[in-house]
Formats: sequence, structure tokens, C-alpha cells
Amino acid sequence: MKKIIIANWKMNPQTARQALQLADEVRRGAKSLKNVEAVLAPPFLYIPIISKILSGKSNLRLAAQDIFWEKGGAYTGEISADQLKASGVKLVIVGHSERRALGETNEIVNKKLKAVLGASMRAVLCVGEAERQKEVAFPKIIRDELHEGLTRIKKSLFRNLVVAYEPIWAISTAGRGRADNPQNIYEITTIIRRELYRMVGKRTASKISVLYGGSVDDKNARAFVKDGAVDGLLVGGASLDAKKFIGLLKEVEKIQ
Ligand code: 13P
Repeated sequence: MKKIIIANWKMNPQTARQALQLADEVRRGAKSLKNVEAVLAPPFLYIPIISKILSGKSNLRLAAQDIFWEKGGAYTGEISADQLKASGVKLVIVGHSERRALGETNEIVNKKLKAVLGASMRAVLCVGEAERQKEVAFPKIIRDELHEGLTRIKKSLFRNLVVAYEPIWAISTAGRGRADNPQNIYEITTIIRRELYRMVGKRTASKISVLYGGSVDDKNARAFVKDGAVDGLLVGGASLDAKKFIGLLKEVEKIQ
């Protein structure tokens, strides 16, 4: 399986011109990648213009940072799965902690996951605890986010699922904003994988990529994938700097 590296631009940059320039630099930098699937998750607004510069052969895919679960109709301000798909989006991030902080519940996350997977796009389900709890190996909140988020979803749809472990305290703009260590990531993601085995069986679960996110940059990326044994990374701040992000992609590309 190729490693997946997702650039979550959040609410950046400020203009379409800057967005296009950043995407184009990354597109050129990603050309030679063989072992890595690079993904850009820009604000909705920039998706159509970036989509135009990505050909079918491009090594870069487009993701959305959110979605609405209804198919269409009177939902002011919302965007549906079909609209995203028609704009070239292949993956959708669901349940990011910054959305959960605005009131998104596991129930809402579940509806969004159903919409993404039902439209044959890939869903990136984000899970993670707010604070480091030394005494518990696997915080209950992560178990709930997995089970409640993935409840009543057909097993066959899990092949398009990606799970991202993003401890909130490790996000560069939140809490202490310091990266987790690869040993801890290895332990937690092993439990996440085991939980997924229990839910859908080993065969289906082994196809689900598990990523890490939280203060990842070009300097530490390699250690997370190698020693943390994750299948990829979800990158915030460092993905807004083309040079850093391309450097990060190349570091991961080197890992066999
Ligand atoms: P940082 O890489 O800035 O810590 O952000 C992580 C994140 O929230 C990606 O979704």
C-alpha cells in the first residue's frame, strides 16, 4: 500500500492566487513520487481551480475538509458528496477535532461518513484525545469516536476508509502543540487497528490505512512513518510551505 500524506490547509491561504501557486509547486514536487500518495485538502472555494491543474496522471489528489450528509435541497451553506465528487474530490476529511470543537458529534460524523463512503469516495475519519492520559493505554474517547462514528456502515464500504489518529494536544496550533513520540503512536495505532479488526474482521481491517497527525514536519515525518509504523500522515501547518511539504513527501518516499 502506498503511504498517504494529506495536506490539511484548514482556512488558508487567503487568496485563490496563493492557493493555486502552492498547489502547483506541490504538484511539480510530487511528480517523481512512487511510494507516496500526496493529497491536498484546500478550503472548498479553491477546489475547482486546483482541480484544473491536476491531470489524471498527476500524483496529487484532492480532498475536502468537510461535507454535508444530505443529497441536495434547502441546506444553506452546505456542500454534498455528489457536488464534491463532481469537482474532482477523491477523499473527504471527517470529524477533525477543530470541527468537533464547533459542535460536531459522533452522530453527525457517522452521517457524514455514510455520505462519503456511499458516494464511493474515501473518508478520513479523525480520532484523538484532548489530553495525554498516561494511566490509560487507550482513551475511551477514541474508542467511542471509532465505534459511534462507524456504526451501521456496511462492511464492504470500509475498504474506502482511512483513520487518522490526531491527538488534539499535539496539533501545532492547539494546547502545547508538540508532536507525539513514535513509540506512543505505535502503541495507540496498534490498538486502533485491533479495534478495527474486531469490528470488520482482519481481512477488511488490514486494508484500512491508519495515519498520524499533529505537528508533523519535514524533520520528524520519517520517524513517525518508520518507527510509529503508520501508513501515512495528516499535516497542517507544514503543508502551507511548499518547500517543507515537498521535503516531507520525499522523506517518506525514501522509506521502504
Ligand atoms: P499541525 O500539523 O499544524 O499540527 O496540524 C495537524 C492537523 O490538525 C492536521 O489535520
